[in-house]
Amino acid sequence: SKGNHKHYMLKEIYEQPIVVAQTLRSYLKRMEGEVSLPIPEFDLSTIKRVTIVACGTSFYAGMVAKYWFEQFARVPVDLDVASEFRYRAPVMEDGGLALFISQSGETADTLAALRHAKAEGQKIAVVVNVPTSSMAREADLLLPTHAGPEIGVASTKAFTCQLAVLAALAANLARAKGLLSKEQEREIVRHLSEAPAALNGALAYDEAIEAMAHNIAGARDVLYLGRGTDYPLALEGALKLKEISYIHAEGYAAGEMKHGPIALIDEHVPVIVIAPSGPLFDKTVSNMQEVMARGGKVVLISDYDGIQAAGEGCMATITMPKVHPLIAPLVYAVPVQLLAYHVAVLKGTDVDQPRNLAKSVTVE
Ligand code: M6R
Repeated sequence: SKGNHKHYMLKEIYEQPIVVAQTLRSYLKRMEGEVSLPIPEFDLSTIKRVTIVACGTSFYAGMVAKYWFEQFARVPVDLDVASEFRYRAPVMEDGGLALFISQSGETADTLAALRHAKAEGQKIAVVVNVPTSSMAREADLLLPTHAGPEIGVASTKAFTCQLAVLAALAANLARAKGLLSKEQEREIVRHLSEAPAALNGALAYDEAIEAMAHNIAGARDVLYLGRGTDYPLALEGALKLKEISYIHAEGYAAGEMKHGPIALIDEHVPVIVIAPSGPLFDKTVSNMQEVMARGGKVVLISDYDGIQAAGEGCMATITMPKVHPLIAPLVYAVPVQLLAYHVAVLKGTDVDQPRNLAKSVTVE
């Protein structure tokens, strides 16, 4: 049931601290300071390349994972949406791991892509939320998320749980490759363990985000910008807004703005900038200032330090708890979900059952 919440989507957004904690429990040995897999005997040390395939929000989780696998495990990663992967001629080397990410485990294109990779001799890993699904059954390495049933068509808690699993998988891969010292592993476990509390911290800004939603509800177009792992978050924010509020939105890598989309900027196009403090902060802020110099109305989502440093002149700011960059994608998922949710409520759309969409896309 929806409990006290008006919509399943809101309920599921609020469940994130609990379900992420629940999911992490099967991937972290907190006391020992170690990451682990549900199938510990699966040998990751020989994996030479990872091919990640998914659709929609699950694809954006995969995109975040690409940054992590490269950064921590130094493994080359191919990434594609399932509907493209299936119909091109993807080159998969021997000894490769093909990783499929899906809430339902039944998405037709992703399942077909899995079968194709299997036929090509790849090891098959799946991150799925439905343990009885086709993808779960066909995997060599089953990596479940424990988000519980997700009813709202807009994926929320499944996404953050996918990120939790993928971060743990990246760390496991790095360890198997001998790239992680005990100390580094302990640090990763510590940061991941902080995610549930940080998600609670992010949820505390719900009312502020609701008030801010009025600035967005009247827009025809909205842009989302981010860099690094915040780039997929920008894409995810835009997808959420499109699918439930029917406002046209686009996510862009902040550095790509000046290669075209900046031409769209005027006072009618709100620009949501996702920029937690961290190594890429200054770069993103300079792109944000280029937008502001052209009359763009910016909503900056950052932590207190980031907003102190760069919030001046923004139409609005949303303050997030200050977190380690590893868990920032989980934490910053919350404000983009809540923003889309509140805009949709203001517009009076059917939040849980948006037009033209199905929860599980079992046809091509
Ligand atoms: O069940 P899956 O994770 O395979 O579904 C993939 C997409 O259909 C799904 O994420 C879709 O994009 C959501 N409605 C986004 O909120």
